[in-house]
Amino acid sequence: MGVRLRILYAVMAVTTVFVVFELCLSIMNTWKTRGGELSDDFLCENNPEVMIVTSSQPHCADADGNLVLLRSLKNKVDYARLHGFQVLCPMENVDMNLTGNWNKIAVLRGAMRVHKAVKWFFWMDSDALITDMLFEIPWNRYNGLDLVAMGNPKQVGHYLGLNAGVLLIRNSEWSLKLLDTLVEVQQQFKTNVTFQRAVRRMVANSPPWLGDQTAFAYLLAKSKKWRARTGFEERYALNGFWKGTEWADPGKVRPKDAFPRDGRSPPFVTHFAGCSFCTGQQSAVLAECKEKFARAFFSATNQVLAVHGVQHKGLTETMESVEIE
Ligand SMILES: *[C@@H]1O[C@H](CO)[C@@H](O)[C@H](O)[C@H]1NC(C)=O
Ligand SMILES: *[C@@H]1O[C@H](CO)[C@@H](O)[C@H](O)[C@H]1NC(C)=O
Repeated sequence: MGVRLRILYAVMAVTTVFVVFELCLSIMNTWKTRGGELSDDFLCENNPEVMIVTSSQPHCADADGNLVLLRSLKNKVDYARLHGFQVLCPMENVDMNLTGNWNKIAVLRGAMRVHKAVKWFFWMDSDALITDMLFEIPWNRYNGLDLVAMGNPKQVGHYLGLNAGVLLIRNSEWSLKLLDTLVEVQQQFKTNVTFQRAVRRMVANSPPWLGDQTAFAYLLAKSKKWRARTGFEERYALNGFWKGTEWADPGKVRPKDAFPRDGRSPPFVTHFAGCSFCTGQQSAVLAECKEKFARAFFSATNQVLAVHGVQHKGLTETMESVEIE
């Protein structure tokens, strides 16, 4: 390596450390409780024992789709920074046998094997946004559970019984075994017609192809072992459907006052399922998706921007200043 290159690397390393340090310092200074100041309790203090995991295509056929992916990742980085989480976001298939939405399983399995110190992985599809930025996941409610998702325990055996787009999955032997078993289901399904029939019988309303959500539903329906440590979160919107929320113009608000931080209003997560932002195929629903996505994104961004005394006006690109007490 040339001397100049070495110096460049050294400068880059020092700069990175300095920037991260300054960022933490400035956030702590700005956000710490001081009189009635907008405050946050957890910044840069928590151990990074939760890792947000997401994944997306390297690029979209639709230009707006690329913006959606960028905004989606920024949203997760913001939330992670506020809550002291890590973020993992590969844009590649990490296992050639597990492509499409199966990449989720491959990425989670890989992360679980490598990141031993992480206690929980928080999977989010790339078309899901966190929209209640200060809501805290009630981790201690999940003692005795290794998998938590939005769903309905009475609908086990139905394709929509558990939505696999947003998952909390503990770093444990049970979870690793579950992921391995999901992969076995996928492998069997490829070649074994008897098995394909068995899966379709077991999972009502499943699409003809085998996605990971069908495989989850199959395993939950088939075995008590997998149901025993699976929790269905219904108390807050761990995986809210995008059509369910109107992003009304908030007017000038201080985000501190605006939300009860209950993860329901606004939903903790807003999932733009069915929008297909990336394919490049235009449709009426895609136009509605894009508009709603932008409003949800700006609503989340406003909550983060509050400390800087600015916000997006009317949930559009236009900015205005806002008073912080
Ligand atoms: C992919 O699947 C084939 C057939 O099941 C198997 O032989 C191979 O080892 C798998 N490759 C990886 C990387 O797991
Ligand atoms: C195909 O699936 C059926 C049903 O699960 C199973 O009994 C059988 O052993 C499988 N066949 C092979 C070759 O794995």
